[in-house]
Order: sequence, then structure tokens, then C-alpha cells
Amino acid sequence: MVILGISGNSHPRGNRWPLRWQKRINIPNAGLAKLAPDLPTKAGSPIPPFQLQFRFAAREDWRLISVVQRRERVLLRMNKPILVTGGAGFIGSNFILRWFEQEQTPLINLDKLTYAGNPRNLVSISSDDRYQFVHGDIGDRELVTRVLREQRPQAIVHFAAESHVDRSILGPDDFIQTNVVGTFNVLEQVRAYWSELSEPEQQDFRFLHVSTDEVYGSLGPSDPAFRENTPYSPNSPYSASKAASDHLVRAYHHTYGLPTLTTNCSNNYGPYQFPEKLIPLVILNARRGKPLPIYGDGQNVRDWLYVVDHCEAIGRVLAEGKPGETYNVGGWNEKKNLEIVETICGLLDDFCSQDPVVPHRNLITFVKDRPGHDRRYAIDARKIERELNWRPRETFESGIRKTILWYLENEKWVNEVTTGAYRQWIEKQYST
Ligand code: NAD
Ligand code: TYD
Repeated sequence: MVILGISGNSHPRGNRWPLRWQKRINIPNAGLAKLAPDLPTKAGSPIPPFQLQFRFAAREDWRLISVVQRRERVLLRMNKPILVTGGAGFIGSNFILRWFEQEQTPLINLDKLTYAGNPRNLVSISSDDRYQFVHGDIGDRELVTRVLREQRPQAIVHFAAESHVDRSILGPDDFIQTNVVGTFNVLEQVRAYWSELSEPEQQDFRFLHVSTDEVYGSLGPSDPAFRENTPYSPNSPYSASKAASDHLVRAYHHTYGLPTLTTNCSNNYGPYQFPEKLIPLVILNARRGKPLPIYGDGQNVRDWLYVVDHCEAIGRVLAEGKPGETYNVGGWNEKKNLEIVETICGLLDDFCSQDPVVPHRNLITFVKDRPGHDRRYAIDARKIERELNWRPRETFESGIRKTILWYLENEKWVNEVTTGAYRQWIEKQYST
């Protein structure tokens, strides 16, 4: 290893990194030799910051600088927590579990524990000193203010939402309350907290809003995929409420200068997804010999992304995204619903040949279509690939195998969330 002095203060894309982040960091000799072969790499020979920058500048290897900066940022901000809202849900749990595998920074999880929030998803990290759970509603002004003032987070990752389209059609109230009013409340309390920070702290602060591709509406078969500048055209109460929250986030950046980031991601699948959504519903029903309901003709298209890839994208945007920007996140995996269900059935035929109904595809049942059912979603993820060097790691084939195996191996989790046993536990555990 060689110890280098490095400054990340003059990034060519215009990011300004606070001087106090200048620090000595370790870079393995091998990596350094590859990226900057002319640098002296004798162990213990410090190189002045300007010299390192100059040499990288000369080589025009800006990506290296950005890699180094990313690493530096995480290392240097270990002592201030991040606040996650809705971290007991599907994507939030995956994000938090991954966070503690990779980062040292403490994390506070503020979650109301609706039917979709399950603290048992996080049991493996619940006794970690760096983790704190706060049970509460993002719409609770006093609570959000208290958490911000006491915990002084350096960033917020806002997942909390009502997220199921079918529920939004049956009863939109909660969607307006949480997704619109709740997000507004968080933004207002964050604005008050942020405005009292010192200038360097204000610049470093990030508010990352996790949103969906559904805000863009429905595509025809040969329309180009959604880009960041595709006009919003939400069709369901869910997507309309998410679109409203995206607009509020945008306005708080433009009006007040709050350093916001928004991600618009396609359909996620993977561990810990509540079995009301298509993929876990089909896995569990197929195992039990129950009908596999396909809305309409099953030809609706979604772009599917493995949840861990989404979490990585969020981490990348948090560390490197440009305030005020939005990033589309997708898996380049457009599939028709019927194809998804048939793929799951085929894999289950191999894994679970003793199930009550095999082949599992005999359970496929076409049912009445969802009102206003969007025909096709597709994400153009080139911006996040180009600017932040993020790409999904999983193909649909590898991701769906992992997902099915996870559901097969976690029957206890499945039984709890499907029998309501975990709701009783939550009521007991969090009744005070
Ligand atoms: P989820 O429904 O699984 O989890 C939502 C979490 O938010 C739960 O833990 C719930 O208890 C919590 N919550 C709900 N209302 C709350 C409130 N008022 N106060 C505090 N906590 C509250 O959702 P998910 O699938 O994990 O989605 C997370 C975010 O990602 C959402 O904002 C959603 O719009 C977005 N998103 C989801 C997908 C997807 O495919 N699931 C895709 C793109 C974007
Ligand atoms: P879903 O998982 O609810 O996600 P979203 O509505 O946010 O895209 O549904 C994915 C697709 O699967 C969507 O086109 C609706 C369809 N679907 C069914 O055909 N049957 C079902 O039982 C469910 C839940 C969804």
C-alpha cells in the first residue's frame, strides 16, 4: 500500500468537495499502477495533493478521481448518520441491510410500520450500535423535527410511501396522505433543519427522494423508453401521488436550494417483497396450488430490476449525484406479465416438483383487468450509466432464480406475513 495525500476539491464536472474532506487515504499499489503508472509508488512516499490532481488531470482520468472521491466521502463522513424513511419496507430493508455490509456510517430508520413495514426484515442488524429504529409517521411534524434536531443527519433517503397500485385504486386516501402530505411535511421540516446548518454542511447535505417510473404514464409498443425529460403523465392514484411528491422535491430545490436528488426506478423484485405484488404473489400461490391471477390479456410490459441493483443505484446517486438532478434507474429487462409468470412456473417445476399442482402453469388464470392499467413501462437508464457509472449486475434470469430461492428458503417469513402473525407481534412490540 502507498499512502497518498489527495484533495478532491476540484472535480472537472463542477462538484465542489469541502476542503475538510481532504485526507490521506490508502490506494492499493496495483490499482494505482494501473491508473497512474508514472506516479512514485514507494511505500510511505506521500504525494502532495496538487501533484496528484495534476497528474490525473494530465492523464484525463477523471473517473479515477471520482472513484477516489466517492471512497473518501464515505470514509470521512462516518460519524454523522443518515436518516432513512420507510426502511422496514421491501426496498428500504434491502437498502439498510446492504448499507451495513458496506458502510460504517450510522443509520436511523423512521417507519410507521404499516402492513408493508416489517421490522423482522432487519433483525440481523437490529442490535448493531450504528442502527436506530424510530417508530412513527412521516406526517408527524413534531416527531420529524425532533429526529432531525437530535440526530443531525447528513443525508435523508426517503422511501416511505404507500406503494401498491391496486390498493390506491380501492382507497386513494392513504396515498395522498403519506405520499403527498407526508413528503411535503418531511421537506418542510428538512428545510427548517437544513437552513440552520453551517454553509459547508448545507452544501454536503443531500435529500434523496426514491420515486418510480410510473409517473411518466403508459407507453405504446414502439415508443421510446422514459428519459429524465419525458413529460409526467401519471394514470393511477399511486403514480399521481408519487408525481406530486416528485414535483414538491423539485420545487424545494429550485425555490430554496435544498440539495435534492430524485431517482425514478422501474419495477423491483427480490427478497422481502410483500406478497401482494406480482412476483411474490405468483411464487407463493403457485406453491400452494392457488390460481395465478393475470390481469387482462397478460401482455402488459414492465421493466424489471433486481432490488439490490436498485439499492446500489441509490447509494451511487447519494454519493455522486448532482443536486437538483433526477436519475432514471432500470434493468433493461422489458417483459410481458405472462412471460414473467411462465418463467416463474418453469423454475418452480424444477425446484418444487412435489407441489400440489405441477406443472405450475396450469394454475394461470386470466382475471378482470385493473382499471386504467398502464400498458407498457420502459426505462432509458443511460444517464445514470454515463454520469455515475452504474449498471445493473443481475440479469432477469439470475435475479429471478435468487428471488425464488429466497422465498423457498424463508418460509417462516412468508408464513408470518401471510398469516398476520407479524402484525400481532408488531402490535405487542410497538404498542407504547
Ligand atoms: P413498501 O410498500 O414495501 O414499503 C413502504 C414502507 O414505508 C413500509 O415500511 C411502510 O411501513 C412505510 N411507510 C408507509 N407509510 C408511512 C408513513 N406515513 N410514515 C412512515 N413510514 C411509512 O414499498 P417499497 O416497494 O419498498 O417502495 C419504497 C419506495 O420506492 C416507495 O417510495 C416507492 O414508491 C418506490 N418505488 C418502488 C418500486 C417497486 O417496484 N416496489 C419501484 C420504484 C420506486
Ligand atoms: P405490480 O407488482 O402490482 O406492480 P405495478 O402495478 O406497480 O407495475 O404489478 C405488476 C404487473 O402485474 C402489472 O402490470 C399488474 C400485473 N398484475 C397481475 O397481472 N396480476 C396480479 O395479481 C398483480 C398483483 C399484478
